[in-house]
Amino acid sequence: MVRRLDLTEFRNYAALRLELDGRPVVLTGPNGAGKTNMLEAVSFLAPGRGLRRARLGEAGRQGATRRWAVAARITGPTGPVDIGTGLAEGEEGERRVVHVDGQPASGPAALGQHMSLAWLTPQMDRLFVEGASARRRFLDRLVYGFDPDHARRVSAFERAMRDRNRLLALGGEQRWLAAQEETMAGQAVAVAAARRDGAQRLQAALRQNAGPLPQADIAVLGLVENWLEDQPAVAVEDRYRALLASQRPVDAAAGMALEGPHRADLIVRHTEKNQAAGLCSTGEQKALLIAIVLANARLTALRRGSAPILLLDEVAAHLDRTRRDALFEELFALGGQVWFTGTDSDLFRPLEGRAEFFAVRDGTVVAGIDRG
Ligand SMILES: Nc1ncnc2c1ncn2[C@@H]1O[C@H](COP(=O)(O)OP(=O)(O)OP(=O)(O)O)[C@@H](O)[C@H]1O
Ligand SMILES: [Mg+2]
Repeated sequence: MVRRLDLTEFRNYAALRLELDGRPVVLTGPNGAGKTNMLEAVSFLAPGRGLRRARLGEAGRQGATRRWAVAARITGPTGPVDIGTGLAEGEEGERRVVHVDGQPASGPAALGQHMSLAWLTPQMDRLFVEGASARRRFLDRLVYGFDPDHARRVSAFERAMRDRNRLLALGGEQRWLAAQEETMAGQAVAVAAARRDGAQRLQAALRQNAGPLPQADIAVLGLVENWLEDQPAVAVEDRYRALLASQRPVDAAAGMALEGPHRADLIVRHTEKNQAAGLCSTGEQKALLIAIVLANARLTALRRGSAPILLLDEVAAHLDRTRRDALFEELFALGGQVWFTGTDSDLFRPLEGRAEFFAVRDGTVVAGIDRG
């Protein structure tokens, strides 16, 4: 749980400290107040590019003369830890630096050891109808929750792939290409296996989903993932390495690797309706997403001994009263820290006395229920 949060020059916050007691956090305020920005700041306490997938420079407050930073005291399975992250500019351009207990960490992936986070944002309402990349990232973030090394492997694969792309474009030496392909194949199998394993566990957790949320069926679709269905990992690794070697001319022409775990997709179906998630109603799609995020939170709670932090941006407004009350109760049962946002504090009435309320106005935050 986040017990203290410090924002410096982050989006519309010049400087802000928030002390929290561990109960759910409810942030309400008008449009443009800074509610989503606050959740985005928290999302930077986990590996990745945050819930907006922002370019690093973009998150700095406009007109600020200092670089942005987000720091937090968190309590978790490993005890209290101070983590911090922010923008640094080096010779290679902008990058995100991470500190754990005052010591520089090797990179954002190190945050996965201390923090487990999941989020739902209004942008994700189109997750099932847009391209595969957002669904793949969604799945990968779920997998980080029970396999912190997954983030490191995904970035190692992508780095080797980018290096190979560059070599292909420059007509680089065969042995350098082979070395990158070797790395790609090793990481690809590990990434694909973790996704398959993650999807299977999630599927089992989704089966235990009672209450008003729908049942969902999920599966990972991808070349390497599919090969793992009936072949041992070593054979798949050899096969993918051989494929990459034979695809060099095609990949060079395309300017990218055409096949691999970077093209995988997460397939979701509404079980009762036996319908692809993309064909379900907006509300049904939202409910499917919530069901998946909750199933994942239950899994993480079992594995780590504590539920992940959930950032639920404008989720309450989409649900009818029965589903909203059921969601609140399920979140209390789960016991992790939940961050809610909304423009209307009335929707959160059932949480009064059981959550910490804050009113957000134009980059400032005041404790207490927002009466408009
Ligand atoms: N880098 C930045 N520097 C300064 N302000 C920014 C920056 N990026 C975004 N903002 C502004 O921060 C304000 C708050 O944005 P945010 O998305 O947090 O609002 P919100 O409270 O979630 O509103 P809504 O209810 O409409 O979702 C917006 O006016 C936005 O333009
Ligand atoms: Mg918002």
